[in-house]
Amino acid sequence: MNKIDHNDPLSKSADIVSENIQQLQQLFPEVFKEGKIDWQELQATLGEHIDTENERFNFTWNGKSNARKEAQKPSTGTLRPAPEESVDWDTTQNLYIEGDNLEVLKLLQKSYHQKVKMIYIDPPYNTGKDFVYKDNYKDNLSNYLELTGQTDDEGKKLSTNSDASGRYHSNWLNMMYPRLKLARNLLKDDGVIFISIDDNEINNLKNICNEIFGEDNVEVYIWDVREDGTMPKTAKKTVRKEHEYIVAAFKTTLAKSLDKYESFKYQDNNWGNPDNDPRGPWMSANISRGSGKGSGGSKSYVITNPTGVEFDRDWSISEEEFNDLLEDNRIYFADDGKGVPRKKIFQNEPVLSIQSSIFEKLKSSQSASQNLEKLLGKIEFDYPKPVNLIERLIQIGSSKEDVIIDFFSGTGSTANAVMNINNKHESDRKFIMVQLPEPTAKDSKALKEGFKTIADIGKERIRRAGNKIKEEYPDKAKELDLGFKVFKLDSSNIKAWSPEAENLEQNLLDAVENIKEGRSESDLLYEILLKYGLDLTLPITEHTVADAKVFNVGAGALLVCLSDDITVAVAEGIAELKNKLNPEICRVVFKDNGFKDSAQKTNVMQKLKQHNIEEVRSI
Ligand SMILES: C[S@@+](CC[C@H](N)C(=O)[O-])C[C@H]1O[C@@H](n2cnc3c(N)ncnc32)[C@H](O)[C@@H]1O
Repeated sequence: MNKIDHNDPLSKSADIVSENIQQLQQLFPEVFKEGKIDWQELQATLGEHIDTENERFNFTWNGKSNARKEAQKPSTGTLRPAPEESVDWDTTQNLYIEGDNLEVLKLLQKSYHQKVKMIYIDPPYNTGKDFVYKDNYKDNLSNYLELTGQTDDEGKKLSTNSDASGRYHSNWLNMMYPRLKLARNLLKDDGVIFISIDDNEINNLKNICNEIFGEDNVEVYIWDVREDGTMPKTAKKTVRKEHEYIVAAFKTTLAKSLDKYESFKYQDNNWGNPDNDPRGPWMSANISRGSGKGSGGSKSYVITNPTGVEFDRDWSISEEEFNDLLEDNRIYFADDGKGVPRKKIFQNEPVLSIQSSIFEKLKSSQSASQNLEKLLGKIEFDYPKPVNLIERLIQIGSSKEDVIIDFFSGTGSTANAVMNINNKHESDRKFIMVQLPEPTAKDSKALKEGFKTIADIGKERIRRAGNKIKEEYPDKAKELDLGFKVFKLDSSNIKAWSPEAENLEQNLLDAVENIKEGRSESDLLYEILLKYGLDLTLPITEHTVADAKVFNVGAGALLVCLSDDITVAVAEGIAELKNKLNPEICRVVFKDNGFKDSAQKTNVMQKLKQHNIEEVRSI
């Protein structure tokens, strides 16, 4: 039985560099010599595409190469479950994660790689008054625990990034760059990240997005911040600023061209109802992208029309969406069934069309603050984003069951927007909020209301927003997921997975007790899920076999037994459970020192092998 030690890839969050190297190896096998990249060979292979000029277009700042390295370093932390602060722990698919978002994004790399359709973030604008998190490249996790007061009683004062600092823009860029790099990995191929920003950093943000996402995939929209055409009284300058920006960065060009503009050209005289559809007059819209053969991407598939003609190409909707529309009689085949499929657009149904890059007539930050105070009391949170602005972005950037992340979530406006949209459109979108437990100021109103951190504000806001939906729409709310599972960033539960495990003496002691004091079975269980890259919201059931507790994760995909005194009887019970559940692959994890003796350990392995369970590991 192989123990997962600190060298094992399973003990770490995703190793991004080696994944990239593997991809390079697939593209250019010829440049790999004895496991290393032959730089000259690569240069020769790429020929004239390599720019060797000393003077060339380049965007750089103080600290960039460290920031890049930081994004590639695996995290040594974990996420510890906090069911007592959660809502509907057993059933919800939503997550609320307390912690520094850099570490959290690293920890999510395996479980949520290419699974996220949309990210919205509202990072610090770097106004000189807001706090910009400073990463510590040596030991980011301890830095985090210290900053947020989790190692000694009081947190360090979180300082603002003042514009008097010589590294004012560099500090901000060093904070943003690794986070955006990691965020991109989580996006699906047709995914998008929307970023709120104002004049302070729009240029720098656009530049790093160009670098990370590719120039062709980045666009800038305007958010007209006036709610009713009037300006807040605070505007002092000669030319009033009535707008902020939303930078949209698409994962691929495909995402941009397919999803951005679902623009249908309506002309009043195009409506008709040739099939007497009870939903009333409709017209048809193009869903095919080009007429050539499909690109093989996620929206490339074959549609056969009623006369048997096959169309193998790229479409603007996924195959699943197409089948749903077909079932709902929302697909029309032109030329009496002989032509290409098109989508029916009904005159009486509101259609989202974003032909304008200006977002206007939404709520202002001021009224977002007032609404928040109605929900939470006087908390004086500076400039939360209006929920209806984020709702608009969610409608544009996601559909039906997509996962939406906000990793600068503040008061949780994005979670509120996701719940609202699900309520309005009967969708089942899921959210992941990440927020630093940034302490609220000593004499602040928020602290007087009982909120010690901004994360406390965020969690309570989502609870109350969920309750409000329940009160206002009692029947519809029964179908909605208004819960969330809370997790908190901390150091690994397992001593041997910490970097100190290289210390031999410590190692010997740790062989006796490998699990850190004060950590629960449930803490361990979720660390194992993360390391195996499993979704943190997978259903988990508990079973008792031969007096030992076995956790069944995702219908048998992973069986975990963290009990002591394990004998072969437990292995028999586990094998029975596996045969009953019949999963495609089954992995089993034990505690390394959880066996009655070494003979039992060997017997357990053999027994599981007899039942075709090959992947058995210990921690
Ligand atoms: C501008 S606010 C977001 C407000 C949010 N859109 C709303 O409507 O409430 C930015 C938030 O990011 C949080 N933050 C800053 N650095 C962070 C980090 N490294 N990890 C997680 N959250 C962070 C701050 O605590 C702050 O609450």
